[in-house]
Amino acid sequence: MATCRSLPSRLLAWYDRHHRYLPWRVPPDRIAAGVRPDPYRVWLSEVMLQQTTVEAVKPYFRTFVETWPTVGTLAASEQEDVMKAWAGLGYYSRARNLKKCAEAVATTHAGLFPSSEEGLRTLPGIGPYTAAAIAAIAFGRPAAVVDGNVERVMSRVFAIDRPVSESKPQIRALVETLVPVDRPGDFAQAMMDLGATICSPKRPACMMCPIRDDCAALAGGDPERFPVKTVKAERPTRRGAAFVAVRADGAVLLRKRAESGLLGGMTEVPGTGWTARADGETTAKAAPFAGNWTFAGQIVHVFTHFSLELDVFRSDMDGHTPPPGTWWSAPSDLPGEALPTVMKKAIEAVLPGATRKNSGPRHR
Ligand code: ADE
Repeated sequence: MATCRSLPSRLLAWYDRHHRYLPWRVPPDRIAAGVRPDPYRVWLSEVMLQQTTVEAVKPYFRTFVETWPTVGTLAASEQEDVMKAWAGLGYYSRARNLKKCAEAVATTHAGLFPSSEEGLRTLPGIGPYTAAAIAAIAFGRPAAVVDGNVERVMSRVFAIDRPVSESKPQIRALVETLVPVDRPGDFAQAMMDLGATICSPKRPACMMCPIRDDCAALAGGDPERFPVKTVKAERPTRRGAAFVAVRADGAVLLRKRAESGLLGGMTEVPGTGWTARADGETTAKAAPFAGNWTFAGQIVHVFTHFSLELDVFRSDMDGHTPPPGTWWSAPSDLPGEALPTVMKKAIEAVLPGATRKNSGPRHR
């Protein structure tokens, strides 16, 4: 096995030249000049980057820091406004915890994030990974920051012959031995950049890799074999129906989902439950109120644990008062509603462009 004593310095030298420019990142030359990252921006970006790609996060991050430039302003915001700004990013419990965490920092920590991993882990929505990332990047603590990218890099460098699900403690221990005390934040981000740009899951660019001489998987001739894969359970399919009621001025009837559970607290068009059974309860007959329901098409949305096939129906509902718990959202309000992506797709199946920001006038 490679000894890897030179790995941190090689990786950091590469990071100094080839790091990505990201809106939440303080580049290494500015860190070397003594600039400290703002813990609020580091925390916000790390929460957004849990389960979401860098490209998807960038515009959301910019909107959030423009709207709420400090943890105090976010703590003082309306929960509903945070849900609206988060809409489309997915995993909505993150948005609820974001607000709770901002409130906790503002009220019980005088507006200052704790700097240790243990302190950070006491806050809502901050687990071991996020605590380590904030401690290392924002506070220069020598924390081992291990996400999926880092697990892949380590599995390859050390040619770990077990699936990641079994080797997590080993990987963490290995990263702990590598973290350089003088640049832990840059090291964490360098590992992430390497995993994202060179040590990719498929067809890694080993010939451009700064730590190829340290890599046991490359020496063995088949780096793609690592991390060793486990057989994944197949994703089940669920079915449902969504009912898009449209008023003459283009307004759409909406309601709020229950606070807990999938997409908790987000906005939706009325619809049926989502069921694994093919019991015929996804037809126009299942509409929660009367209308001239016509089939507008099926949309498919993939969640982590199931795929959803949603039959979308449209009805023109002129002169109706909205049923209890629902509201009409005017065309100018629709893009700003807290609609998760699956609901945007359903509405777009009936009114193309209606949920997009700056979509301009649209025709029915
Ligand atoms: N993924 C998770 N955190 C990240 C970060 N700080 N920079 C780049 N990619 C990331």
